[in-house]
Amino acid sequence: MKINLLVGTMTGTAQLVAQELELVWDDGELQVETLLMDKLDGSVFRREGVFLVVTSTYGQGDVPDNAKGLYEDLKAKRPDLSRVRYGVFGLGDRTYAETFNFGGKRFDDLLQELGAQRIGERVQHDASSGVLPEEMAVEWGERWLALAKDALAVST
Ligand SMILES: Cc1cc2nc3c(=O)[nH]c(=O)nc-3n(C[C@H](O)[C@H](O)[C@H](O)COP(=O)(O)O)c2cc1C
Repeated sequence: MKINLLVGTMTGTAQLVAQELELVWDDGELQVETLLMDKLDGSVFRREGVFLVVTSTYGQGDVPDNAKGLYEDLKAKRPDLSRVRYGVFGLGDRTYAETFNFGGKRFDDLLQELGAQRIGERVQHDASSGVLPEEMAVEWGERWLALAKDALAVST
């Protein structure tokens, strides 16, 4: 089974989360690949396996700069993603109450619009909570991985 981690980040926290997940998950049987969103376009969703979008939030609830190309490409070209299974680990900060975790939410909403099916619930890390995002990800990820395996077993 393959897992593609798609990372949207400004200051590297989301990348740390992906690195930690890769370290814990990649055991040979499970192949994990981390892709920074820089320079990716919608064709990335043609890759084999399931996808986990790990992204932070910036500006007025925007996706980070390195995720803009991918986000805008999907919005413009609107590919049919009905065969895509994905999860979202969002990073944000509750002090931005109006736009808390909107980066992950934007990807989630768009992927659903394009027909992709989410595995599990969208996670929202809060930088003000004192909980380390990579620790939250590993704990949450255990359950998500089990759901992802079930999802792949049904769809293949
Ligand atoms: C200038 C700036 C704007 C931000 N805007 C938001 C926001 O609108 N909503 C939110 O939930 N978090 C916001 N954040 C918090 C970041 O998303 C959060 O700190 C995240 O962990 C950063 O991850 P990264 O290092 O992967 O980019 C903002 C942070 C900064 C510095």
